[in-house]
Amino acid sequence: MTPSVRDGASLVGRTEEGRRFAPPADLAAAANVTAAAYEQADADRLGFWAEQARRLTWATEPAETLDWSNPPFARWFADGELNVAYNCVDRHVEAGHGDRIALYFEGEPGDSRAISYAELKDEVSRAANALTELGVTQGDRVAVYLPMIPEAVVAMLACARIGAPHSVIFGGFSADAVASRIADADAKLVITADGGYRRGKPSALKPVVDAAVARTPQVERVLVVRRTGQDVAWDDTRDVWWQEIVGRQSAAHTPEPFGAEHPLFILYTSGTTGKPKGILHTSGGYLTQTGYTHHAVFDLKPETDVYWCTADIGWITGHSYIVYGPLANGATQVLYEGTPDTPHRGRFWEIVQKYGVTLLYTAPTAVRTFMKWGDDIPARFDLSSLRVLGSVGEPINPEAWVWYREHIGAGRAPVVDTWWQTETGAMMISPLPGVTVTKPGSAQVPLPGIAATVVDDEAREVPAGSDGYLVLTEPWPSMLRTVWGDDQRYLDTYWSRFPGRYFAGDGARKDEDGDIRLLGRVDDVMLVSGHNISTAEVESALVSHPEVAEAAVVGAADATTGQAVVAFVILRGSAEDGGRAGAGGPGLDAELRDHVGRTLGPIAKPRRILTVPELPKTRSGKIMRRLLRDIAENRELGDVTTLTDSSVMDLIRSGLPAAP
Ligand code: WTA
Repeated sequence: MTPSVRDGASLVGRTEEGRRFAPPADLAAAANVTAAAYEQADADRLGFWAEQARRLTWATEPAETLDWSNPPFARWFADGELNVAYNCVDRHVEAGHGDRIALYFEGEPGDSRAISYAELKDEVSRAANALTELGVTQGDRVAVYLPMIPEAVVAMLACARIGAPHSVIFGGFSADAVASRIADADAKLVITADGGYRRGKPSALKPVVDAAVARTPQVERVLVVRRTGQDVAWDDTRDVWWQEIVGRQSAAHTPEPFGAEHPLFILYTSGTTGKPKGILHTSGGYLTQTGYTHHAVFDLKPETDVYWCTADIGWITGHSYIVYGPLANGATQVLYEGTPDTPHRGRFWEIVQKYGVTLLYTAPTAVRTFMKWGDDIPARFDLSSLRVLGSVGEPINPEAWVWYREHIGAGRAPVVDTWWQTETGAMMISPLPGVTVTKPGSAQVPLPGIAATVVDDEAREVPAGSDGYLVLTEPWPSMLRTVWGDDQRYLDTYWSRFPGRYFAGDGARKDEDGDIRLLGRVDDVMLVSGHNISTAEVESALVSHPEVAEAAVVGAADATTGQAVVAFVILRGSAEDGGRAGAGGPGLDAELRDHVGRTLGPIAKPRRILTVPELPKTRSGKIMRRLLRDIAENRELGDVTTLTDSSVMDLIRSGLPAAP
């Protein structure tokens, strides 16, 4: 990165909230993981992971930890054998915890179900028997396209139980996206539902699968969960009701052990360009690291904690921190089907209060939305059970981090900002709640057993106080093994930019203490007059202004400066309550520009500030800067199919003044 960023003291460090938060004494005293874990892992990294692997139950204990003889193709615990579903379900029942609740399901319309580990074991066994009856065998791929209902968890575990890798496709994707994923993975069976509930209405899923399957001849059968009871088209030779076939199976099923490197699942990353990448994860290493990190970062006490991850099962966060990590640890957790504002904007807090949730895992975009809705909403609920608050998915700006701690965590619960990716499979950089003195908006330290650093363009480690690229310098147990069917793409995408090191695609700063602060995707770094300015940094500065609720910043092409900073802002106090939203005006624009100038330095001042009612987001909550760039550069809009709501773009455009 250019030295100007480092040199310009005005640019560096000013958005960083100066406050530090030590772990609560009671949490630290009883923490699952202490500072000793870092020492142990530093002294013997592989020995450390071998010990974490022993948290699992193996049919054959692995003698070998890592085989790195053909880098970057890793094999972890390769001579060990285990059954992932047995580890997530049966062993807890065998240990006498069959009555413990595994899932508190909360449907959007208000229906609820509590499912114990014993019941989950029976249901997973029946589903495994049903898959076998439908001709699915070890190694076959199964596509899963379901809402956030218990059957989604059961379906994934049933696949794992019989060694059939699943490919979960987010329930909001279109028929095109479903068809291309089915075809790429060559799936022979699809598990779906008639529909799910979203924003107070049944929303159909099966018609999407019908359209996709019409184009994917490899699909032999479609298994359909009845959730909403809505009408569906039916093909007698192909479709079968889940309740019918699973319901009549025996609850006895012997889980067969598979090699630790047996494929567990494929998950497609929402590609920014081109064909989506099928990220391949395998069994033993993946379960070791998801289980360990969930135990360490959430400090899970399975007997007393109630954990809730608000992600969708269709994303990696749902795979690793709803299904595999928590269940491997015998956690009790909430599974919520719907949206945070249905039927009212306090729904999340009502759920926390109802179940006494102690550990919450959500995304910065959700936190900022709650900020925007107002402090008074969470204040109406009893959130005193909460003791650890997790964040994942994008850099969390210090403002939102502090709000989360204050208004959700009563100024007491530690915030753990967890950096990781679909590709890493599990958390990589995060504070430990009983150890780390946290800094607002920073993921800070690689977890024990993880090696990460920040390098410059020439792959040299940057000194403290500098920006560069985040790289992972040693293999880790839950790393992707390849891109499904495309080893070359695996090499090119992740291992060619810095030979011998994994390139994450994220910009990062090594702060004065040597801690890592994530700056957003490298493609989100703007280059203005030769200065690297991260979009996240300017967004953070804007959001620290009392009038701004949310901001998205893009670099628009500029003939003289290379790129110019263009900011899209949502003002605080929504239109409904007669706030300044939508008003903006030259006075405020100048004020915001000055505010950014004061916070970050004049170079970071936005050239244009556009006040908008909404921001375009992908279904996983990431701001689609590409579309904002299209607007900022007065172009036709590109592909909007991955947006949650494509009308957002019309809304944004219609309210804007003509471009200068
Ligand atoms: C971003 C989600 C900053 C990052 C688990 C990464 C983050 C991408 C954080 C992966 C965080 C995720 N701080 N950035 N705590 N967590 N990211 O594959 O840019 O959906 O590369 O995995 O999200 O997104 P993915």
